Amino acid sequence: MEVVHTIPELRAAVARARQAGKSVGFVPTMGCLHEGHLSLIRRAKQESGYVVVSIFVTPPQCGPNEDFAKYPRTFEDDRRGCEAAGAGLIFAPSAPDFYPAGASTWVDVEGVSAGLCGEFRPGHFRGVATVVAMLFNAVQADVAVFGRKDLQQLAVIRRMARDLLFPVRIIAHETVREPNGVAMSSRNRYLTPEQLAQATAIPAAMEAAQALARAGVTDAARLRAAAQAVLAAQPALKPQYCEIVDLETMASVASTIGKGCAIAIACHLGTTRLIDNADL
Ligand code: PAF
Repeated sequence: MEVVHTIPELRAAVARARQAGKSVGFVPTMGCLHEGHLSLIRRAKQESGYVVVSIFVTPPQCGPNEDFAKYPRTFEDDRRGCEAAGAGLIFAPSAPDFYPAGASTWVDVEGVSAGLCGEFRPGHFRGVATVVAMLFNAVQADVAVFGRKDLQQLAVIRRMARDLLFPVRIIAHETVREPNGVAMSSRNRYLTPEQLAQATAIPAAMEAAQALARAGVTDAARLRAAAQAVLAAQPALKPQYCEIVDLETMASVASTIGKGCAIAIACHLGTTRLIDNADL
C-alpha cells in the first residue's frame, strides 16, 4: 500500500492501477479510523480492484464551535488499518496542497442539506459536498462507499452526484455497532464507560419506533413520540432532533406510507454529539 500527499501523485497512482486493468473504489475519511471505516474499505475492496482511502480533515466542514485543530489525528494506526482492510493507496493531503489558493467555489446541495444536522451545523454540508466533489474529481473512482450512519451526508452526496453528473456509483454501507448497539463513531472515544452505556438509549429509541412500524403504525407523530419517550427516560441525553424523514429528501414526513423512511436522531451526551438512524 502506498501513501501519497499530492494530487499529481494520487493521479499517477490511480493511472497505474487503471493501466493494470483494475477498477477503482474510493472511501473518503477524516482519519481516526475505527471498525466502521474499515468495513467501508473492505466493502470497496469487494466492489473494485484498487481502493483509494482519503484521510483529510477539511477545515470548511468544521463549524465555528467545532475545533478543527482538536480533531483527533491517528495516522499510524489509520495506515495499518487501511492496509489490513485491503486499501491500495492512502491520499493524505494538507489543506494548502489540496485547495487551490483563493478557491471561491462551493457546492451547495439545497433542500437535502437544510434540516436535521444542517440546521444545527450551518455550513457543514456545503463543506462536505465541496470537498467530496473535489475528491471525486481528483480520484475519478468507479465506486465510492459511504456509511449509512451519516444518513444526511449520504443523501447530500447522492443528490450532488446525480445533479452534477459525477460518473461514480455511490454505495451505502450498513452502520457498524459497538457490542452494546451504539453506532461506532470516532467521537465514541470521548465517552466514558458510563456514557457509552447511557448512549444505548439512542438505539433503544430507534427500536421503539421500528417496533411500532412493524406493528403497522405509519403515523410519524406516533413513531416519533415512542422514540422520544425512550430518550427522555435517559436524562444524561440531551436530544437535538428526533425526526421521521424521507430517505431521499431528508424532509420530515407526516406518514411513512409510500416512501422509504428512517428515524434520525442527534443527541448531546456531555460534550459529545452523537447521531444515529434506522430504517422504518
Ligand atoms: O464522513 C466524513 O468523514 C467526512 O464528512 C467526509 C465524507 C470524509 C468528507 O470530509
